[in-house]
Amino acid sequence: MDFPTEIVHEGKVKILVPKLRAFVKTPSEYAPSKAPVFYNPLMELNRDIAVLALQTYQKTVNRKIVVCEPLAGCGVRGIRFASEVEGVKKVLINDINEKAFQLAKANVQMNKLNKRVIVKNEDANRLLSRYGAPRKRFDAIDIDPFGSPVPYLDSAIRALRDGGLIALTATDMAPLCGVYPKACIRKYGGKPLRTEYCHELALRLLAGCLAATAAKYDIGINVVFSHSTNHYIRLYAEIAYGAKKADESLKNMGYILHCFNCFHRETLKTPSLIGHSGRCSECNLKLDYAGPLWLGKVTDKKFCELMKNKVENMVFKQKEKIHKILTLIKNEVDAPITYYVIDRICDKFGFPVPSVKKVIETLKTKSLRATQPHFNPKGIRTDASARSMNKILQKLSQTDYDKF
Ligand SMILES: C[S@@+](CC[C@H](N)C(=O)[O-])C[C@H]1O[C@@H](n2cnc3c(N)ncnc32)[C@H](O)[C@@H]1O
Ligand SMILES: [Zn+2]
Repeated sequence: MDFPTEIVHEGKVKILVPKLRAFVKTPSEYAPSKAPVFYNPLMELNRDIAVLALQTYQKTVNRKIVVCEPLAGCGVRGIRFASEVEGVKKVLINDINEKAFQLAKANVQMNKLNKRVIVKNEDANRLLSRYGAPRKRFDAIDIDPFGSPVPYLDSAIRALRDGGLIALTATDMAPLCGVYPKACIRKYGGKPLRTEYCHELALRLLAGCLAATAAKYDIGINVVFSHSTNHYIRLYAEIAYGAKKADESLKNMGYILHCFNCFHRETLKTPSLIGHSGRCSECNLKLDYAGPLWLGKVTDKKFCELMKNKVENMVFKQKEKIHKILTLIKNEVDAPITYYVIDRICDKFGFPVPSVKKVIETLKTKSLRATQPHFNPKGIRTDASARSMNKILQKLSQTDYDKF
């Protein structure tokens, strides 16, 4: 390589990557994007979970699978799929950057995977389009781009076999979380909203966009797993061929209405907002909305459970953290859409903030569902209305709990 490199260990593999320290002048600079080939050590957890999800998928379908990673950078993800996931017959990795291609080839060789990992150097859409015919398609495609995965959705869906798995990363959180709503509407076809649960909305906007894109080809989606961290979201969905499947999945599209005055929110599983008064049923002020977006499940409980059972046997540095994330996600699968963030409510109404644990216990004693979402440690997913939450928080923040 004609740039400084070093060897890192991730999962079961060793990978030659750009020596990130050599490419930044100040500590505040974002090293991965300064290097000639992309490698982000902070995404190791994302890749660990990708390995887990792919293994779970492979066990579920119970056959040898062929995988494509069309935006591979130094190749770490695809190489890990070939090395760590049982039942992977072949992995096709690709990057448009010539230096990434050279580095990925060197990494395949270093891990002695030449027979099972093929490296290409072309535009991702061009590559995927060549695999869009029957018997050529992949079992799984992992799209891990800079920013939005949307430019690759059509070609990825067409290159995926019936029952195949698509994995998507989106790092363009500013549009998805409502900082740039117009960009989100343009790219994802739905309006975002700057609420305390904007990361959940981001996942639902991405899933909605995937469902709408797949529907154009008479394909339905089944979201099996998703998660969010500070700077990205990740979604895994199986696809099913057939116009009926597409229609079925489009039934999960709708809107989330939100009151910025009293925190009330509601969902509308309808193709449009026509017929809704646009007023908050709690305080009668004007509601804002997000959507159209996906109102269906964003994780399949069984799939998540299978992933969780496999963590122990994996060679991950952050096993405990992953186990914790999966436990939180599993617990929130059946809970209502959207969550409250207690700091926000207490801040607005001027109460001291009680502990999340205490609030969850209190809600449960009232026979309401209550669980902490993985999105936010101060969040609570519950059936309680905004008005009841407000009352509970107010009472809990007083010292005299007995009266309550
Ligand atoms: C976020 S990085 C990939 C990181 C990698 N998936 C990982 O897990 O480490 C995105 C990569 O996409 C590549 N890329 C950008 N546009 C592309 C295109 N049109 N076709 C193929 N690769 C592209 C970039 O060169 C970059 O290496
Ligand atoms: Zn209201």
